[in-house]
Amino acid sequence: MSDFEPFYDVNRTYEDNYERGPFGEFAEALKSDTTQGSVPHADENFMGVPVNLAFGIPAGPLLNERFTTAAFRMGFDLATYKTVRSRAWGCNPFPNVLAVHPRSADGSLTPGSAELDEGVLADTNYEQPISISNSFGVPSQSPDAWQPDMQAAIKAAGEGQLLVPSFQGSRDPGATEEAYIADHVTTARLVKETGAQVMVMNTSCPNEGHNRLLCHNPLLVGRITEAIKREIGDTPLMIKLAYIPDDGALETMVRATAGLGSVQGFSTINTISARLVDANGEQALPGAGRERSGVCGNAIRGAGLNMVRRLAAIRERLGLDFAINGVGGVVSPEDYAAYRSAGADSVMSATGAMWNANLARDIKAAR
Ligand SMILES: Cc1cc2nc3c(=O)[nH]c(=O)nc-3n(C[C@H](O)[C@H](O)[C@H](O)COP(=O)(O)O)c2cc1C
Repeated sequence: MSDFEPFYDVNRTYEDNYERGPFGEFAEALKSDTTQGSVPHADENFMGVPVNLAFGIPAGPLLNERFTTAAFRMGFDLATYKTVRSRAWGCNPFPNVLAVHPRSADGSLTPGSAELDEGVLADTNYEQPISISNSFGVPSQSPDAWQPDMQAAIKAAGEGQLLVPSFQGSRDPGATEEAYIADHVTTARLVKETGAQVMVMNTSCPNEGHNRLLCHNPLLVGRITEAIKREIGDTPLMIKLAYIPDDGALETMVRATAGLGSVQGFSTINTISARLVDANGEQALPGAGRERSGVCGNAIRGAGLNMVRRLAAIRERLGLDFAINGVGGVVSPEDYAAYRSAGADSVMSATGAMWNANLARDIKAAR
């Protein structure tokens, strides 16, 4: 695998990837004008928008229009534009990605397990089945840069393909809840102005206090999505959830959002937080506040499937019809099938796609 080059090159900075990427097979795909592995028949949908196969890449490794266009050409019919904000926002220092090596034989990490606090080995030894950690801090260009680029990305989708914009609110230290809600509404409006047909709001971002995520406060998420819905009208809104262990808390989230009509779908899961250590047991990522970081890829598939099953059960019990987008550890066609069986209407892969640019074609060939 020494000559293997993921389309997002983990050995380069975020800025370098933004300016010069994508790399490897995605760079080759950009040189040709044809979409590979896509048939011009939309027989599935993503929150009501017809698509060929409801499979693609979630928010993260597709930094701009060149990345999303390359993803479309490689047969990923859903390409998510990396999370944008209402203003320019810097990236955490390099490195932003490390390989992680959980102790279990199958490489899985279970939410709530002691290993997540004791430390998981992280280094630059990337192995299949791939698990990594990513630590970016959700950087964003300013809207002056990302709005025209997102508009071009939307236009570059082929037949039966859909550009999915992702956004989140930004909270200044000491800012009021009202200001935080208003920033979400502003960002959603900026996204809508690009011509977006759907949008995904990230709620797995830090809220107040360390390790407290916005999605741990369902009532605040409910207030935010209600305010956004007033701004964006009929445009379908999906929210991205981190793993939520408690069934009661998950149901409260569903009732406060989809139950009130402000949300049409859930995308889950985001990364699972773990303490990362090097071979000497020292902090693996350099710098303050980076003792813990989010793990994704093979290690978190069990947790992702578990969230999708529980959401599907709540959907059934409450008689609601929201969409479920299954994310987390999809590295093979079998993993894609497992998410569909668990109740996902669509499926996405970030880490798995980075280490196999042909994943969408493999899944289509296996169907
Ligand atoms: C390089 C990278 C960057 C990411 N950046 C974002 C982001 O900006 N916004 C977001 O909601 N999720 C982000 N994620 C999380 C993914 O969307 C996804 O939820 C997570 O990686 C689990 O999927 P996976 O196991 O297929 O990687 C990122 C993931 C990766 C690998």
